Amino acid sequence: MTVHIGANKGDIAETVLMPGDPYRAKWAAETFLEKPKLVNEVRGMLGFTGTYKGNPVTIHGSGMGMPSLSIYANELIRDFGAKTLIRIGSCGGMQPHVKIRDVIIAMTATSLNTPSMGLFKEVNFAPSADWTLLHKAFHAAEAMKLTPHVGGIYSSDVFYDERPDLTEQMTRHGILGVEMEAAELYTVAARLGARALAVLTVSDHLQTGEALPSSERERSFGDMVQVALDAAFPS
Ligand code: HPA
Repeated sequence: MTVHIGANKGDIAETVLMPGDPYRAKWAAETFLEKPKLVNEVRGMLGFTGTYKGNPVTIHGSGMGMPSLSIYANELIRDFGAKTLIRIGSCGGMQPHVKIRDVIIAMTATSLNTPSMGLFKEVNFAPSADWTLLHKAFHAAEAMKLTPHVGGIYSSDVFYDERPDLTEQMTRHGILGVEMEAAELYTVAARLGARALAVLTVSDHLQTGEALPSSERERSFGDMVQVALDAAFPS
């Protein structure tokens, strides 16, 4: 047990899928895993472990934003031996060719700040995805007839952004979408010797103002779970 994860050693699998929302973790575990078992509920941050095609998998909420994700990623890797961490979440589209419902597989994550940034002092570390996971996820998404885009995303500290000029700079530099967790996930994984990836559905669009209706969110979330599982366990 750790401060934030009430699981016993051995309760957490080496492969962990991390949605922001703990109830999404519950839904995904009950929908995709065989014999899902609740392994954490400290502070309502639900985590479940089961198997997928016989492979042990944990699906654990990260909470919203990098400070929250950082706590869980650190403890999952350091204390429970997680080796592959895949964020599954939503993002806002930032390019005209990136449409609502499309899937973004984040190769890199730009940020203004991350909880790890103090470590680097004058260095601008470039958080990047694990290549093998990224490659497998791309092919899995294509095979599922999703529309995957691979490239850079922006991990923001704020949802209600008061700096439209920053969004404009990100868009000018080809950033595909904005979310709030991946840069820290990639950085913590790099530091602690784990593999990481973020697979995101475009749920809203910063340029068009469109948003995915809630009736469709569950299906698109399910598609991401499938992409993440296929990336972690290619057949
Ligand atoms: N901003 C930040 N995070 C997000 C967004 C957004 O527009 N959409 C989904 N996650």
